[in-house]
Amino acid sequence: LLGDAERGADVFRKCTGCHKVGPDAPNRAGPHLNEIFGRKAGSIEGFKYSKSMQRAFGDGLVWDAETLDAYIENPRALISGTRMSFRGLKDPQDRHDVLAYLRQFTASPQ
Ligand code: HEM
Repeated sequence: LLGDAERGADVFRKCTGCHKVGPDAPNRAGPHLNEIFGRKAGSIEGFKYSKSMQRAFGDGLVWDAETLDAYIENPRALISGTRMSFRGLKDPQDRHDVLAYLRQFTASPQ
């Protein structure tokens, strides 16, 4: 994953209306994004996910560089009924940078 984490912090401002990340980050409209790399989709205890995200959990979808890239490019293309109403990041560099940023908040990224 060749992204610039510093630039990714800037790109992440497109997400902060709904997501927090970092020490003790709470859930907001979206779940917190700590430890996202290697985590099962829809697995934050206490967050009310869409039925579609619950199905992705049941199907065993795991967030890694590839699945995260697909989801943030076009959320509904990966998970048709997702409640994440975000049009997606169309620029691959933006996606790689924001994922490099988020990766810093996973202790042992895969
Ligand atoms: C879910 C990332 C923007 C609302 C998720 C998940 C990820 C993610 C990785 C899955 C989390 C999990 O499985 O626990 C991002 C990134 C964004 C972004 C990187 C910016 C580039 C937004 C925005 C909103 C939003 C702007 C609100 C308008 C949600 C919601 C869910 C979600 C509601 C749960 C979806 C469901 O249950 O189907 N997001 N997100 N996200 N996000 Fe975002």
